[in-house]
Amino acid sequence: MNILAIESSCDETAAAVVQDGRTVRSNLIASQADMHATYGGVVPEIASRKHVEVIAGLAQRAVEESGLTLQELDAVAVTYAPGLIGAVLVGVNFAKSAAYALKKPLIPVHHVRGHIAANYLTHPDLEPPFVCLCVSGGNTMIVDVQDYTHMTILGATRDDAAGECFDKVARVLGIGYPGGGPMDALAQGGDDKRYDLPRAHVHDAPLDMSFSGLKTAVLNLAHNAQQKGEALDLPGLAASFAAAVSDTLVPRTMEAARQMGYGKIAVAGGVAANSRLRADLERACRASGDKLYLPALALCGDNAAMIGCQGYYEYQAGKRGGLDLNAYATRDISKG
Ligand code: KG4
Repeated sequence: MNILAIESSCDETAAAVVQDGRTVRSNLIASQADMHATYGGVVPEIASRKHVEVIAGLAQRAVEESGLTLQELDAVAVTYAPGLIGAVLVGVNFAKSAAYALKKPLIPVHHVRGHIAANYLTHPDLEPPFVCLCVSGGNTMIVDVQDYTHMTILGATRDDAAGECFDKVARVLGIGYPGGGPMDALAQGGDDKRYDLPRAHVHDAPLDMSFSGLKTAVLNLAHNAQQKGEALDLPGLAASFAAAVSDTLVPRTMEAARQMGYGKIAVAGGVAANSRLRADLERACRASGDKLYLPALALCGDNAAMIGCQGYYEYQAGKRGGLDLNAYATRDISKG
């Protein structure tokens, strides 16, 4: 089964063709990050307008590169939630038109389910059930993936997403946008004990997380240093920050895995590229005996191949979108 997949939930327009869920025939991404860098974050209207400009041409190229004809496509899958609403609407509307013109079924896909599916593309042997730490610019949650289309949230952030926190800290430190990658690179030469940063706990919800206090602590450090005319040890701060984020995510993920007892842990989303997080999870899984699945670096960020993969499993489970399909800024992953 060949699926044309479309993703436009934030600042990447993406189109891919995926065969039988796990074989990527083409995977194209048009990133707008440079455009938003001027503003230090994603400007929603600019994102929507850029999606409108590039989406049709990108989808056409994805089909061409797949080596298939339009007639050989069997369905169109699209991210319909969650994300920047104007941006998601562009993808949904395009996918609807494509499905209508091709007379093929339309498959709505939850964006975070797509991130989880990036692991199926990286690891042909991976099958549910497993516990997945989903960490991106807009979402941070620990998910019980019972099967391909049944999942529940075991714990989640109460405020900022981990990636959002990386981006805001990077902006204040003048490191650029998006900040996660450059912060990660900067942290390589840094002392992770240089700054004492908070690790928050949510009372009575041991698997939930909070990053706003950590973010504020770094912002205060930066402002105080600026007022006193003192220089910050930037590599040390980046390393201390990455350690605080990882210390928040890793023990909760391991505890969730212990509770579920599947013996398998996966990681998903843009922050899954973080080297400190990957190293800490590897160490923790060696100690616990859980098998760790990390997505290929190229599939951590937003892409359409992951949507085509998850779309295949949603299709098998009978999910279809009608021509009245709408887009949603937020949607519970358990509802698909
Ligand atoms: O999954 P993604 O592309 O978009 C969403 O679905 O939100 O994630 C983007 C996020 C950004 O916040 C970016 O700064 C972060 O992932 N990110 C990283 C790294 N690479 C990207 N964060 C930490 N370390 C990295 N190496």
